[in-house]
Amino acid sequence: MTPPPLLAITALTRTFGALSALAGVSLSVMSKTRHAVIGPNGAGKTTLFNVITGQVPPSAGHVLFEGRLVTGLSPHAVARRGISRSFQRTNLFPKLTVLENLRLAAAADGRGSWSLFGRVDRLRAPFERATETAEAIGLRDRLPATAGTLSYGEQRQLEVGVALATRPKLLLLDEPTAGMSPEETQRMTHMLEGLPREVTLLIIEHDMDVVGSLADRVTVLHYGEVLTEGTFDHVKRDPRVYEVYLGSA
Ligand SMILES: Nc1ncnc2c1ncn2[C@@H]1O[C@H](COP(=O)(O)OP(=O)(O)OP(=O)(O)O)[C@@H](O)[C@H]1O
Ligand SMILES: [Mg+2]
Repeated sequence: MTPPPLLAITALTRTFGALSALAGVSLSVMSKTRHAVIGPNGAGKTTLFNVITGQVPPSAGHVLFEGRLVTGLSPHAVARRGISRSFQRTNLFPKLTVLENLRLAAAADGRGSWSLFGRVDRLRAPFERATETAEAIGLRDRLPATAGTLSYGEQRQLEVGVALATRPKLLLLDEPTAGMSPEETQRMTHMLEGLPREVTLLIIEHDMDVVGSLADRVTVLHYGEVLTEGTFDHVKRDPRVYEVYLGSA
């Protein structure tokens, strides 16, 4: 028997005026898997993330996380359930250090308390988690550096760290390698491969090498609909996938 999915999306629709950004998307993400969402520009990938995390309400359909409804919750409440995300564009505090960025994220995980007057051991927990996270994202020796002075690739790694420091059950990454050089992409891929398996990953990615080396399962979106889904090898061999990419190029 297969276990119930960690994330179960059913018939999700989102319209913007006359445009259907999501036109009835159903998708299941199994616990502890790495699931990629691919598709041409404008396919609805980021909108899907925005609906999952409560940034954008759906027009119809629903999302269950651990069997409980999350559609209708605020982004904060969704995060508290254990869903965290990084954005397509950077979202760091550039004047704070790597350590400070990670500590803030760790302290604001929504499950702990945010008290300024908390006990010292409560404050220590975010510190430890921040250093652990820095290790996981390969920035252990960059903790004192100001985020704004990091290279582009390092900033994107820190972005993932900020999302990871909240200890999510489900981590959503929106194009983590966008704009990266081949070397930076390789470093990021390696880092993502090394993340703990307990963290379920839902990743939007355009780079097929990254998808191929990371994803257990791939869903292809096209005009707000699921075109196909399966293993990377399966999806790769589907001629329709080529067509939508070539058609959009
Ligand atoms: N807030 C909004 N208002 C109006 N239209 C929107 C809004 N957000 C997204 N759209 C439209 O919905 C469609 C899907 O956009 P979305 O950003 O989800 O695509 P995407 O698959 O993430 O594309 P990309 O690969 O370029 O990031 C696009 O046509 C976009 O212009
Ligand atoms: Mg997008």
